[in-house]
Amino acid sequence: MHILLIGNGGREHAIAWKLAQSTQVTKISVAPGSAGIAAESKVERIDIAISDHAALSDYAVEHLVHLTVVGPEVPLVAGIVDHFEAANLRIIGPRAAAAQLEGSKAYAKEFMQRHSIPTASHASFSDISDAHAYLDEKGAPIVIKADGLAAGKGVVVAQTLDEAHAAVDAMLGEQTFGNAGSTVVIEEFLVGEEASFIALVDGQHCLPFATSQDHKARDEGDHGPNTGGMGAYSPAPVVTDAIQKHILADVVEPTVAGLIKDGTPFKGFLYVGLMIGDSGEARVVEYNVRLGDPETQPLLMRLDSDLLTLLDAAVEGTLDQVQASWQSQCSLGVVLAGGDYPASSSKGEKIDGIEDAEALGCKVFHAGTDLNNNQFETNGGRVLCVSALGENIKEAKALADKGAAAIKFSNMHYRRDIGYRAVARLSAKT
Ligand code: AMP
Ligand code: GLY
Repeated sequence: MHILLIGNGGREHAIAWKLAQSTQVTKISVAPGSAGIAAESKVERIDIAISDHAALSDYAVEHLVHLTVVGPEVPLVAGIVDHFEAANLRIIGPRAAAAQLEGSKAYAKEFMQRHSIPTASHASFSDISDAHAYLDEKGAPIVIKADGLAAGKGVVVAQTLDEAHAAVDAMLGEQTFGNAGSTVVIEEFLVGEEASFIALVDGQHCLPFATSQDHKARDEGDHGPNTGGMGAYSPAPVVTDAIQKHILADVVEPTVAGLIKDGTPFKGFLYVGLMIGDSGEARVVEYNVRLGDPETQPLLMRLDSDLLTLLDAAVEGTLDQVQASWQSQCSLGVVLAGGDYPASSSKGEKIDGIEDAEALGCKVFHAGTDLNNNQFETNGGRVLCVSALGENIKEAKALADKGAAAIKFSNMHYRRDIGYRAVARLSAKT
């Protein structure tokens, strides 16, 4: 079967790598893909932009594509699924109306209020002086979010009122995020430990994936600016069996039911970012309407099941009839970024040591690379995600860290402490 995969990042590399393992899959065309993704077996790159829905659907018709898999949020929010479904093409992902859960933070907050889903209290503003007045009333710490899509960078967790006012000035005054920041959501600062919960949803049923956790802050100790994610691991030990039950019953199932009630049923990957408080209560920090990046890289390393079988069941509405099986091993991925990420990206720097990291037993997923004269070069903010399995999180981390240290490019930056909370929990237990 021929698959069309849309996207070009580390997440899409992991999806392609996993789909290529399926005996049902004969070919994976990735639009636009990357040199690193194209190095996988069965994969070819096609030169179609992710925003060109018509050219993508024409390709799917012409090449008898069995299923189109959408990696990133932008085409989902822009209605690629609506477009493909109107042409009777099989595609996995939510329609534009349901994708608003990620496309607009204000929409997501109202959705959660409407359906009694636990989350931080909030208010939305387009007027700058109202926003400043609200900050003065609430005090710090407080969180300011651009309403629209900002590649994971439109969130400021302000420890002081000065930082909070500056964030409002940047978003509503200087419009640093353009239209995405013309409305801001200001919300209560939540205390606790974060976890990501991802489920595959077929409109009605949901198949929970293994738990995972990413590190969004650029620097060690979870300091510095927010990024798309500097590393991730699975499972996330903060999510005990009891907390997982609570997340399913009080967050995921009410979300799926709320979407049905609103007339916008959800098909695809529903990603819930959560803050788990001290007494185990989970509150939603954000929704994403696709797999997380870099969570997907360590997650799919643990997936034993055939990914295509799961995706097909989601498209057909028969997810209640399949199960996903996961390796008991833990996995962890370390992102190697250009030194100035997230402020700017790296381009044309020669990358050494990818084979060395793989020879150690790591899998190196490409997030932003190019191939020039048979030599991989940087081409993005996040460049690679070095991922590894281990008997426990400490072993997975040790191997991924070793793989990361084997790779070199000019101005490379990565966090040496990915998974530190999970490792501390393990050490506390033993
Ligand atoms: P988001 O893009 O909404 O996931 O926010 C990015 C990151 O900011 C999250 O992963 C958290 O680390 C942090 N964050 C967002 N909202 C809150 C909140 N209400 N309280 C504390 N931290 C938050
Ligand atoms: N790692 C979080 C995200 O994909 O947005």
